[in-house]
Amino acid sequence: MTDNDTIITIDGPSGSGKSTISRELARRLNYTYLDTGAMYRAVGLLAKRRNVAVDDEEQISSLLTDLDLKLLPGKDDTRVLLEHEDVSAAIRTSEMGMAASAVSALPLVRKKLTRLQQEIGRQGAVVAEGRDTGTVVFPQARYKFYLDASPEERARRRSRQLQEKGQPVDERKIFQQLIKRDHDDSSRSIAPLTAANDAIHINSSRMTVDEVLNFMMKQLAKNKKSVQNKKEIT
Ligand code: DC
Repeated sequence: MTDNDTIITIDGPSGSGKSTISRELARRLNYTYLDTGAMYRAVGLLAKRRNVAVDDEEQISSLLTDLDLKLLPGKDDTRVLLEHEDVSAAIRTSEMGMAASAVSALPLVRKKLTRLQQEIGRQGAVVAEGRDTGTVVFPQARYKFYLDASPEERARRRSRQLQEKGQPVDERKIFQQLIKRDHDDSSRSIAPLTAANDAIHINSSRMTVDEVLNFMMKQLAKNKKSVQNKKEIT
């Protein structure tokens, strides 16, 4: 197997089910789950804590010179350690989602985090989820998925997730934030949210988690077979 075979990318908008699906797919395959959104959220949190405006590229990039960030993928969530502090809960708020979206539009932030993500990809097999993992971070990956669902369904899922975490939920506000985040993530000039040309599209609006996973596993098996056949023919 080449390195390209051991990288699976799953991109898509907020609330499309990427995290649940990516974590579970990684578990089934015994791959590392790489939650790239958590990294942007941690940078958003760092900026807020240091009172740096989320669009101040110069100041934020100086915060990143010795960024101390660790991702520890676990059964239910990725634990995120920022300067040795567990910030897993602090980054998973709507506010940090918006802050992450803002800092993610800054070229220097993207450059730094893309490099860190590629480094993790070099260390072993990964299921990487985000907005640009199939287009920019791992364009060479053989297996790419683009996961989507209707905005209404995505807002419902996001609200349910926050409720389960005991956070206050205003579903209308969540819907509006989601539409804004979709717009900002898709229209930025650098590494916008978009499907790679060779990604398999899945609309999960009416699919269960298991249905999506089974579909993906079938696609991976099919793809592997066609690569093997190609190798045998040549
Ligand atoms: O997937 P998430 O909600 O945790 O992502 C938070 C924000 O981070 C998202 O609105 C855009 C940004 N992001 C990005 O620009 N590129 C990625 N690969 C992952 C996330």
